[in-house]
Order: sequence, then structure tokens, then C-alpha cells
Amino acid sequence: MVMAPTACAPAEICVSKHYQDKHELYPSHAGDYGGDEVSQSKLAAKDLVFEILKKRAADVDIDRCGPGEEDPFYVADMGEIYRQHLRWKMNLGRVKPFYAVKCNPDPEILRLMARLGNGFDCASKAEIDLALESGVDPSRIIYAQPCKTKSYLRYAAQMGVRQMTFDNADELYKIKANFPDAELYLRILTDDSTSLCRLSMKFGASLDVAPQLLELAHRLELNVVGVSFHVGSGAEDPKAFLKAVQDARLIFDQAAEIGYELHTLDVGGGFSQDTFEKFSAILSDALDTYFPPNIRIIAEPGRYYVASAFTLAANVIARRDVPDPLDPSRDAYMLYLNDGVYGNFSNIIFDHQHPVAQILSCENRSRASSPDAATPEGFAYSIWGPTCDGIDVISERINLPGLLDVGDWLYFEDMGAYTRCSATRFNGFSDTHEVIYISSEAGASALLDY
Ligand SMILES: Cc1ncc(COP(=O)(O)O)c(C=O)c1O
Repeated sequence: MVMAPTACAPAEICVSKHYQDKHELYPSHAGDYGGDEVSQSKLAAKDLVFEILKKRAADVDIDRCGPGEEDPFYVADMGEIYRQHLRWKMNLGRVKPFYAVKCNPDPEILRLMARLGNGFDCASKAEIDLALESGVDPSRIIYAQPCKTKSYLRYAAQMGVRQMTFDNADELYKIKANFPDAELYLRILTDDSTSLCRLSMKFGASLDVAPQLLELAHRLELNVVGVSFHVGSGAEDPKAFLKAVQDARLIFDQAAEIGYELHTLDVGGGFSQDTFEKFSAILSDALDTYFPPNIRIIAEPGRYYVASAFTLAANVIARRDVPDPLDPSRDAYMLYLNDGVYGNFSNIIFDHQHPVAQILSCENRSRASSPDAATPEGFAYSIWGPTCDGIDVISERINLPGLLDVGDWLYFEDMGAYTRCSATRFNGFSDTHEVIYISSEAGASALLDY
């Protein structure tokens, strides 16, 4: 049984059947936190995630386990994705989300997205396959890659994935030759100067070029149905949405002069959990100002949906006692984890993130604990990944309230976006890790049959 999110009583956890089969697990309870219902259920969910992390880590005996049994693992709370969906619906009800598969192509995420009624933004054949495997109709997929591989384009035609973006003339000729019936979205350039991951240096037609592209598409008798944009992933300036919507309006009007009746605007991704209400208010107003209700609005959110749903645990495989670089009279420690920037922490390199370590277990089994190491802030650490490369650093300096040693565990919240999808096998480490799926929301549990 799972408590509904609106119930203020302690939440009860639902764990996927696969995990229940493997581990003897009791339903866990979290306390009553007061405050509004959503943040209350979020807080309760955090406790539940922590319990599962602890239990799974405690199952590992690092002195006896087989190779890799102490590997990093995730706990994924599908209830968190469900809460994000409700938040989306409350703030951007007019906009239909097409989840950006690239952000985290986990099949359970895709299954939940499909059951929530969302579509998918795919950028390759493999992503199209994953989306189709979730059971959705091809009309719920947009191939949102303005520079497509020819054979993938033919594959999209074969699978009936008709919606796709373009931003240049060569792409139009390619589409004409390989999928002339496709439904096309002209992707326009945005001002993404404040975003974490800038995209406009690579994709998007400028407003100068857009009319020529529309005319060429018209001459080629191609079916342009809409406009798309992306303000950059991790965008910080909500006005970028306003400007992009205004620009899109201009293109709709130019397209009408050429003879196209565009029916859809795709506002892309770039939504973050911390700024969502602010961004969505500006976007909603802009949409209502510039686009009448008969225009369908879609979006391609990735990070927004999944960032906070995944928590990663990693094991301390080595420790080195060194003089504290800030105060050489004291000790500090270099910790080496079995995951790093070539693995699930690829978000440090590719997504400019700064994951924050927290202690999951600290057994204080150390023989050589140094009385000179502790400060009121705790013990000073730098945290490194397992590969031989010097750039494999997770945190150059962090104070933690315990003396960690080999075998202890750290955990990192907010590891759901652009992490495992860009992990490598460099140095022979695995890029595939166990995910324990749970649901802290009754709605998600019901949809996923947990
Ligand atoms: C075309 C496209 N759509 C959507 C996304 C998802 O962006 P976000 O995770 O910021 O929502 C990206 C990310 O790079 C993208 O390139």
C-alpha cells in the first residue's frame, strides 16, 4: 500500500518487484514534516531513498565480496518524476512534454513517461527504438536533431516517426530525398548565453536565414508544420523564452505569407527544477500573448523531469592521508571512489555540475585516525575517481563530518540528468550499474505496477 501524495500521514515506500525479489525488504516509514504537501512528500521520499541506499550498501562485505560487488549503484525514485509531472501540469498545462530521451534513457523512466501520456524527443535511431519500445505511437515522437544521419532518416520514415526538426538547406534536400512526407519544424536560433550547456553555436537558423529556408522548403513541396527552439540546457535567463517565443511568432507569420499554415510550436528544453515556476510563468504569458489556443505547444524537457529522481552511492576504494593544502600542519584525506568523471560523474565534465558528497556509511574502522585532522567543520577531503587520469576528480575540497576509510560509502543526490548516459568504460570500469527503482508516490506506483 502507498499513501497518496495529498495525505499528510507518513509515506510508505513502494519498491519495484525486481528489487523485492532480490532483497528482503520491509516497508519503511518516514516522519511527518508539516509544511505544504508537496515538500512534505519530497522530504519523506528523501528519507525513504536514504533507507534503501543504506540497506543496499550494508549488504556488501568489502572484505569478502566478489569483483565489482561493491560497484556504485543508484536508487531511482519514480515518485519524484511523478511529482515533477504534476508540477509541470500545474504551471504549464498548455504545453505537452516530449521527454528528451538523451538526458537519461532509462527504460523505467520511459515507461513512466509513456504512461503519463508524454511524448519523446529522440536524436538517434537507438533513442527512437527506446521510445517505441515504451509502447507509444510514433506520433508521440519528435526526431529533434536538425542534422540527421541519412540512414536514420529512412528508418524514421519506415517506423512512421514523421515529426522532425531542420535548420539548414542541406537538411531539406536530404529530407526531400529520404522522407518527403515528414512533418517539419524549423529550429531557430536563440540567445543561450546564460545557459550551462549552450546549443545555439551548433544548431538553429538565424532570423535572417529562416525565410529563405521556408521558401526552399515550399519549392521542394515539403510539409513544414511548426517552429522549434531550445534556449540552452540549464538556462538562467527566463527572458530567453520570451524572446524565442516572439521570434517564433515572426516565423509563423512569415510562413503564412509563403503559404504554410503552421500549427505547432516546440519550446524545447532548458527547464530546471530550481527555477521552474519563474520560467514557466514568463513562458506561459508569452505563449498566451503570441499564440492563440488553436496552436499546439509542445516542449522537450529532460533535466527538469529526472535530475532529482536518481541518487548515486559509491564506495571508498582507497584513501590517502596528506597534509591539508590550506593548513599543512593539519591532515586531510584524498578519497578514491569506484566512480568518477569517466563514469556516472560525467556530468561534471559534460554538464558543468558539482555533485555534493554526503556520508552514507562511516564505520570508523580506521587504525590511523589522526587527531590533527578534525576541525569544527569536520574532516577535509578531496574526492577522486578510480581511473588513472588526473582530471578524474569529483570534488577538490569538501568537509565531511566523519573520518571515512576504505569500505565506507558516499552518496550524491540529483544524479538523474546527463550522468549514466554519458558514462564510459575507460580503464576497464563498468558503465552500467544497478538501479533500484522505488516509488514514493501512489500515482507512480499505480502506473508502474510497483
Ligand atoms: C534538442 C534538445 N531538446 C531537449 C534537450 C533537453 O534539454 P534539458 O535537459 O535542458 O531540458 C536537449 C539537450 O541538450 C536538446 O539538445
